[in-house]
Amino acid sequence: MKFFVDTADVAEIRDLAATGLLDGVTTNPSLVAKTGRDFFDVVAEICALVDGPVSAEVAATDVEAMVAEGRTLARIADNVAVKVPLTWDGLKACRSLSQDGTQVNVTLCFSANQALLAAKAGASFISPFVGRLDDIGHDGMQLIAEILEIYGNYDSFHTEVLVASIRSPMHVLHAARLGADVCTIPPVVIRQLAKHVLTDKGLDAFLADWQKTGQSILGRGDSGDKA
Ligand code: G3P
Repeated sequence: MKFFVDTADVAEIRDLAATGLLDGVTTNPSLVAKTGRDFFDVVAEICALVDGPVSAEVAATDVEAMVAEGRTLARIADNVAVKVPLTWDGLKACRSLSQDGTQVNVTLCFSANQALLAAKAGASFISPFVGRLDDIGHDGMQLIAEILEIYGNYDSFHTEVLVASIRSPMHVLHAARLGADVCTIPPVVIRQLAKHVLTDKGLDAFLADWQKTGQSILGRGDSGDKA
């Protein structure tokens, strides 16, 4: 499963990209607004930091303007994926932009039928929002299972299921168990994935015992410095 980070914070992205665990980035207008920075500057900087797709969302709502905005965004860098909302106009814009050879991420997906339409419109990614469905008492992960089942029925569909609106490590775990293609994860949740109380406890005990031996590893034989 690919890991995208769901943020427009360049410092966070730089830090996470250094781990080698990052396969792409998703932004949205709310995340860009949070930075207080120029949208184009932010997208260009992110595209230079990661090789994978970087989602940048259009602000227009009618098809002609969405396509024009999408083409402008796609010129920022080769790895821009244009994000359009799951509306009739968004689906038409998805078709046009995909035919240009631009990656399109269809966002704000809340039903399997919407995901079916996005695949037929040639989307590179469909973004079902699991957290927002959970928030209103629905089962976000059930939607992921339905979309994966439908897409798996048709060899002609190449749309990747990009699980969005992730709120906790459990969302990531369930998405991976279902075989989702991508999770876009807030930075705080990516860091939580590595945490376990028993890891911390075990490491403390190992370090305390090691200190009692009075030994050190560096400075013995091969220093590890091969230069
Ligand atoms: O990028 C879209 C998305 O992941 C939104 O998440 O937490 O605002 O529902 P959230």
